[in-house]
Amino acid sequence: MAHMNQYPDSPPAGYPACFEQEIRLPDGHLLWARPIVPGDADILAAEFSAADDATLYARFFTRSFDLTKDRLRYLTEIDYATHLALAVMTIGGEHPDGVAIGRYAATTATDVEAAVVVKPRYRRLGIAGILVELLATAATSAGYSTMSASHLADNTAADRLLGRMGFSGGRLENGVVVEASRILRGDPATIGSA
Ligand SMILES: CC(C)(COP(=O)(O)OP(=O)(O)OC[C@H]1O[C@@H](n2cnc3c(N)ncnc32)[C@H](O)[C@@H]1OP(=O)(O)O)[C@@H](O)C(=O)NCCC(=O)NCCS
Repeated sequence: MAHMNQYPDSPPAGYPACFEQEIRLPDGHLLWARPIVPGDADILAAEFSAADDATLYARFFTRSFDLTKDRLRYLTEIDYATHLALAVMTIGGEHPDGVAIGRYAATTATDVEAAVVVKPRYRRLGIAGILVELLATAATSAGYSTMSASHLADNTAADRLLGRMGFSGGRLENGVVVEASRILRGDPATIGSA
C-alpha cells in the first residue's frame, strides 16, 4: 500500500466512490479510506512481502502464507457487493503510506465474514475499530444481517477489538481459532446507494 493513489485514476465498473472518505482518529489525525481497485495489486504484493510473520499469521492463521497470483487477484479484483475491501492510507505527500485494510466477503446470502489488518506502527490508535464500523455499515446497507470475524485464540488485540465492536462468540472446535459474530441492523438497501 506504500504508494497507493489516494484517488484511483480509472476506477473499475461498480466502484463505490461513496466509500471514499476521510477518517479522523481520536487523536485528531486524518487518514483516507477508499475501496481497493485491481490497480492496487503490485503495491499490495509489496506490502505482503514487507509484512512481518506475526502479522501474516494473525491475519491468515498459517505460518506459510503464500500470496499466489490467484489469491492476489481475489484480494484486489472485488465486486463491491459480495466482497468489499477498504484500504486506509495517509493523506498528503507524493507517496501516501498504507495503513490498514479491512474487508468483508459474503459467506451466504445473509452473512459476511470480515477481517482487518493494521500495519504495526499504526496500531492502538483506534483504526481497526473505525474500519470495522465502516465495514459493518456497508454490509448493513448491502442488506446483510450478520457479520462474523475469526481470530487466533491468543490474539488479545483482535479479541478486545471485536468485543468492543459488539461481536460475541465461542472457540471453534480446533481450539485455535475463535469465531465471533455480530447482528447487523439497518434498512436493507443496495451497496450502490449506500
Ligand atoms: C487486531 C488489530 C487489527 C487491531 O488493530 P488496532 O488498530 O490496533 O485496534 P484498535 O486501536 O482499534 O484497538 C483495538 C483494541 O485492542 C487493544 N489492543 C491493541 N493492541 C493490543 C495488544 N497488543 N495487546 C492488548 N490489547 C491490544 C486496544 O487497546 C483496543 O482495546 P480497547 O477497545 O479495549 O481499548 C491489529 O492488531 C492487527 O492488524 N493485527 C494483525 C492482524 C489481525 O490480528 N487481524 C485480526 C483478524 S480479524
